[in-house]
Amino acid sequence: MPEIYIDSSQRIIAVGKTGSGKTFLMKYLTRTLKRLMVLDPKAMIDPAQWHLDWVSGNGLRDLQNGKNVRLLVRTYDTAEWNTYLTAAWNAGNTVVYIDELYALVEFGRIAPPRILSQLYTQGRERKVGVWGATQRPAWVPMFSISECDWFFAFRTQLQDDRKRLSELMGPEVLDPIPVEDRFGFWMYSIEWDHPYYVDQLRINGEKKDEVKATQTYEKLETHR
Ligand SMILES: Nc1ncnc2c1ncn2[C@@H]1O[C@H](COP(=O)(O)OP(=O)(O)OP(=O)(O)O)[C@@H](O)[C@H]1O
Ligand SMILES: [Mg+2]
Repeated sequence: MPEIYIDSSQRIIAVGKTGSGKTFLMKYLTRTLKRLMVLDPKAMIDPAQWHLDWVSGNGLRDLQNGKNVRLLVRTYDTAEWNTYLTAAWNAGNTVVYIDELYALVEFGRIAPPRILSQLYTQGRERKVGVWGATQRPAWVPMFSISECDWFFAFRTQLQDDRKRLSELMGPEVLDPIPVEDRFGFWMYSIEWDHPYYVDQLRINGEKKDEVKATQTYEKLETHR
């Protein structure tokens, strides 16, 4: 397996059925990030376990002022997603992790917020990474997959989903994840020729340092 270096300004997508291990991996990958905003539309994320503070006016100001803050946003109001995503855009140098991307399009009922596509397509310039998870690739906006630098394909229910993922990652991911490896996944970078299979033990066991994410900083002009 090649050396893995995920930059905080990159885009990541984790796809897999419920319970396949997406959030677990993301918790692992985000643990070292100093400036993080977690959007938790499913109300599944424990702020203590993740070392997050509930978002507040002060928290957003700290983010804007370049301080190190890890914020948890939990709201069901799609209009509010706009506010928080815009705050991340304005602050720059931040990773936004969206624990279920599908919720931001209100489960197919509304178009994605404009700021979401802006973050995906132009966030690199502001050093804003967007890391997302979804149960099905067909449910989320095209740009949230096509803009990605890194793909993690966990167990999926439908052959259709694996077919979609194989178009991005390679034919290897067409085969279902072996039953004996509950949290196994295929990992792919757009710079690689083919995906690599990562079994759960590599994340939990001694080899876990193979997968690293680092946050780099750049001075940014803030403009609205
Ligand atoms: N690699 C792993 N090793 C051990 N336990 C794991 C691993 N991955 C996930 N788990 C555990 O399995 C359960 C389900 O994992 P997780 O919450 O990551 O699933 P998910 O893909 O995010 O599902 P959902 O789509 O429902 O959010 C959790 O309790 C988690 O702690
Ligand atoms: Mg999850």
